[in-house]
Amino acid sequence: MTDSLSVRDNRTNAEYELPISDGTIRAVDLLRITADDEPLVSYDPGFVNTAACRSAITYIDGDAGILEYRGYPIEQLAEHSTHLETAYLLLNGQLPTAEELADWEHLVNTHRLLPDNVKTLIHGFRYDAHPMAMMMSAVASFHTFYRDSRNITDPEARELNIVRLIGKMPTLAAFAYRHSVGRPYVYPDDSLGYCENFLAMLFQGAEPKYEADPRLVRALEVLFILHADHEQNCSTNAVRAVASAGNDPYTSCGAGIGALFGPLHGGANEAVLRMLREIKTVDRVPEFIAGVKDGKGRLMGFGHRVYKNYDPRAKIIKHATEQVFEAVGVDNPLLKIAIELEKIALQDDYFVKRRLYPNVDFYSGLIYEALTFPPEMFTVLFAVPRTVGWLSQWQEGVTDPEAKISRPKQIYTGIRTRDYAHLGER
Ligand SMILES: CC(C)(COP(=O)(O)OP(=O)(O)OC[C@H]1O[C@@H](n2cnc3c(N)ncnc32)[C@H](O)[C@@H]1OP(=O)(O)O)[C@@H](O)C(=O)NCCC(=O)NCCS
Repeated sequence: MTDSLSVRDNRTNAEYELPISDGTIRAVDLLRITADDEPLVSYDPGFVNTAACRSAITYIDGDAGILEYRGYPIEQLAEHSTHLETAYLLLNGQLPTAEELADWEHLVNTHRLLPDNVKTLIHGFRYDAHPMAMMMSAVASFHTFYRDSRNITDPEARELNIVRLIGKMPTLAAFAYRHSVGRPYVYPDDSLGYCENFLAMLFQGAEPKYEADPRLVRALEVLFILHADHEQNCSTNAVRAVASAGNDPYTSCGAGIGALFGPLHGGANEAVLRMLREIKTVDRVPEFIAGVKDGKGRLMGFGHRVYKNYDPRAKIIKHATEQVFEAVGVDNPLLKIAIELEKIALQDDYFVKRRLYPNVDFYSGLIYEALTFPPEMFTVLFAVPRTVGWLSQWQEGVTDPEAKISRPKQIYTGIRTRDYAHLGER
């Protein structure tokens, strides 16, 4: 077997041999194929079948429903690991020893405070500003406080700014939330773990010490692990594209937050809840499904660009949903609608044919609501753990000797050269 692709261009009858390595052909090899002096270009809106980098971080097999971080199945990490341990794994390539983990947790803890000016920045937003807009601005502003972050070729500067951002994200998210509900900020408590401290900064009231239900802490830990990375998704691609211009992690992750804000990406769980509210009652589910099939909108929380069998995260999250509902003791009618929707859609030909299955967002919104988060916070709760993935990918991108500034081609469809017409002549 020869690892190459034989191509015959029927326009010119010319034949070409394109080498295949790692199951790919190099798009630049297509430049050799020319007709009328025009090189052949591949057209791929949304990068459906284009690899933009090599990566050793996350492996996905969409057809088999497999997700692995550095080779570890997501199911095992969700069962045994913590978010910070998973963060160490994603960033460094292997699980930490007990000593390395303790050092890492301590290091992240020491970077949880925000520069004071960032509080002023948050204060400048209207009370009803979306917290994702606050997060995006604040994260982008961090490079003005940590100028060493621009030294992206210095491994020590890279490491320091990575840990800074991981430490600060929960504090920033909690401050953005408290600003939107008009409550005073709660500062990090060094005696609490990453997720427990996050819950305390979000929800502590007048009580001297906030004590979170351990089941809720674990559920958040699991949600964070599931959301930590997902190879070259829209926001990670945004982070890598911005980083490819030589940008620091804050500027790059600010772009990632912007991408994640979109309803087709991180905003989907918010859209799921809106959809469930619109449906109102279980008996209206068939009518809603019929509307989706008629093209009156999409079934939010269903379908995935990569998973065409099932999303392995959805299974884990469904289990976490049940545990959270047991802990908070709420009988949420929206959960019943969600279960009915899932049941009907999984049997319906329209969804089966198109291989549309529940994705991670189908249930995560319900968990967040049970934890009393307003819908605007849902995407923020995605951004906090995904920062770990963005930073791992940022680091891999800026140290990749094959990386180039991101600059796709286009097919020009506009008018060609014409003379400028003066105002009176148009
Ligand atoms: C995630 C998503 C953007 C992936 O899109 P994609 O891989 O580009 O798939 P396409 O948009 O090409 O859809 C393929 C077909 O399935 C249909 N489809 C895809 N998602 C659908 C959904 N959620 N509900 C109904 N139909 C859907 C499309 O209409 C299309 O049908 P057609 O072939 O008859 O035109 C898409 O499934 C979606 O919009 N889902 C809802 C939003 C969501 O939950 N996002 C979170 C992702 S984690």
